[in-house]
Amino acid sequence: MRQPLVTGNWKMNGSKQSIADLLDGLKQGVGEVNSAELAVCPPAIYIPQVADSLANTPIKWGGQNLSVENQGAFTGEISGDMLTDFNARYVIVGHSERRSLYGETDTLVADKVAKALACGLTPILCVGELLSEREAEQTESVVNRQLDAVVAKIGIDTMAQVVVAYEPVWAIGTGKTATPEQAQDVHAFIRQRIAVQNVQVADGLRILYGGSMKADNAADLMAQPDIDGGLIGGASLKAVEFLAICKAAG
Ligand code: PGA
Repeated sequence: MRQPLVTGNWKMNGSKQSIADLLDGLKQGVGEVNSAELAVCPPAIYIPQVADSLANTPIKWGGQNLSVENQGAFTGEISGDMLTDFNARYVIVGHSERRSLYGETDTLVADKVAKALACGLTPILCVGELLSEREAEQTESVVNRQLDAVVAKIGIDTMAQVVVAYEPVWAIGTGKTATPEQAQDVHAFIRQRIAVQNVQVADGLRILYGGSMKADNAADLMAQPDIDGGLIGGASLKAVEFLAICKAAG
């Protein structure tokens, strides 16, 4: 059985006070979540605050990005070792905003996945198509290309240490969620692509859905056989809403 994972991607939101309030709410409510694992990915500057607050709780945390470099003259970058220094467990890699706004290529994303693993972090690898690509019926080829770059870099067996997040770009922050069937189709496709190379890895692979997942649509999405949790943006900034999604996951 795959343990569901629900991860909050806070993006560039929050303040010391709002984060303290949010964490208080999550800590109070986490006991009501059955089996799902919870994680939050704050802006890097707040990781020390989050790490302190969540130490000795079941809630994990992670980075939103990492450098492919170890250390040195890379202004503005944060290394995987810095994240693990604060006991981060996860790191989001290749989010569509990083790909589209900061020019991250499939190759760079694959390098970052490898670096995350080398640092002892679990990468949450984001894949997903643009609206124009969906309309041109290229969803599978795009997702395939994004996945293949990573598999080519780390090898199929190592995919057992990766979490995949399918995030159709047209659904991110738009309020336009993929239907449960649309999401399930792509999740099943991803699992199948991995299965032809290693059935065991495919069976154990956690594939999260991301893109306008909210408390009121989470249950239908989570009920799909190949959806193993969520990567939640806007709805992860409110404790009650995020916890409701976590409960829907299991
Ligand atoms: P959203 O973002 O839930 O606000 O659509 C999801 C994401 O970008 O990971």
